[in-house]
Amino acid sequence: MKIRPFQLERYFARHEFSTPHLLCTSDCESVSVGDLLQLESGAREGLASLWLGYTESQGGPELRKQIASLYEKIHPEQILAHSGAEEAIFNFMNTVLEAGDEVIVHAPCYQSLGEVARSVGAKVIPWPADPQQNWELDLGFLQDHLSDRTRVVVVNLPHNPTGYLPDPGFLFELSRLSDHHGFLVFSDEVYRGLEYDPSSRLPCFADINERGVSLGVMSKTYGLAGLRIGWVATSNRKLFEALAAFKDYTTICNSAPSEYLAGLALHHHDRLAQRNLGIIRNNLKLLNAFFAGHRDLFAWEPPQAGPIAFPRYLGGTVDDFCEQLRQDAGVLLLPGTVYDDPNNCFRIGFGRADMAQGLDKLKAYLTPPAGSPNRLL
Ligand SMILES: Cc1ncc(COP(=O)(O)O)c(C=O)c1O
Repeated sequence: MKIRPFQLERYFARHEFSTPHLLCTSDCESVSVGDLLQLESGAREGLASLWLGYTESQGGPELRKQIASLYEKIHPEQILAHSGAEEAIFNFMNTVLEAGDEVIVHAPCYQSLGEVARSVGAKVIPWPADPQQNWELDLGFLQDHLSDRTRVVVVNLPHNPTGYLPDPGFLFELSRLSDHHGFLVFSDEVYRGLEYDPSSRLPCFADINERGVSLGVMSKTYGLAGLRIGWVATSNRKLFEALAAFKDYTTICNSAPSEYLAGLALHHHDRLAQRNLGIIRNNLKLLNAFFAGHRDLFAWEPPQAGPIAFPRYLGGTVDDFCEQLRQDAGVLLLPGTVYDDPNNCFRIGFGRADMAQGLDKLKAYLTPPAGSPNRLL
């Protein structure tokens, strides 16, 4: 198998653990194992007595039950647990695609959503979000690019990196097109639950149509990336069985302590999500004020959901800006070029509790003390 390097992950591999201020992370504030165990009496003993043999390859019954509670119609036996969302993406694309198939992918996107399909020999057609329309996706574009070879359409809503969220009518129309044309839908919903206005939350695709899967993970909304627990939900039994059989060649089953802790966390999912939404709301106030004071340098459209946004840099080349900022101020932003996006944007992340410190460093960098040279000129 030949696959292009994952540009975003390579960027984080270089800089994440050596740059003091991370201002572009896509996850939310995490907690310690001790914090999780305090959520319920008996949890500490439960973890200590956990058997460390192989776990069930589809995910343990308690974990699948807790995951299913996030959906309207999906049952525990329609949940397939994975090691992170990343494994689920890899396995799905390898299971359903063949060389010559066509895949239409929401763009810009978390690279593996398109790259794995490409590595299988599928033709990947980017479905570009429109930066002039707050990163809207045009269903007319999709209809114009459907063919009898279209096997999968990929959407990521709420969207990484723009924070875009359409209204539910979009999803129902996608579902109708999927029925009509026969393609599958891979619906990456890893930021679901982080809508700033709860009434704007979309239905899960798996709840409305058996022609697709919903992708979920502990990493983003719940801030528990270190557990490496993700899942797909689907009412399509044939697809489920095929995905389960492929997983025997990747991880077989998950880590038992991770499954235990993920089940415990999901029992309290609303509490964890609300805590992270509170952090996001506070941070967004700071960002709105910051961008209002720098209209000459940045074009900022507030996002609708999630812990990330994708403002445009107006002061030069975004790669140079991000690199200089990292070197001089120890602040990490993510240039949009790692998404192959041509709009001179960068990703900013605001799901973590220490965002204000990074933002203060960015402010200081943009406004050097009187007498010192302005690095942007
Ligand atoms: C849209 C999207 N999908 C999937 C993933 C993969 O999630 P994980 O790293 O938890 O496997 C990410 C991670 O950033 C993401 O942003």
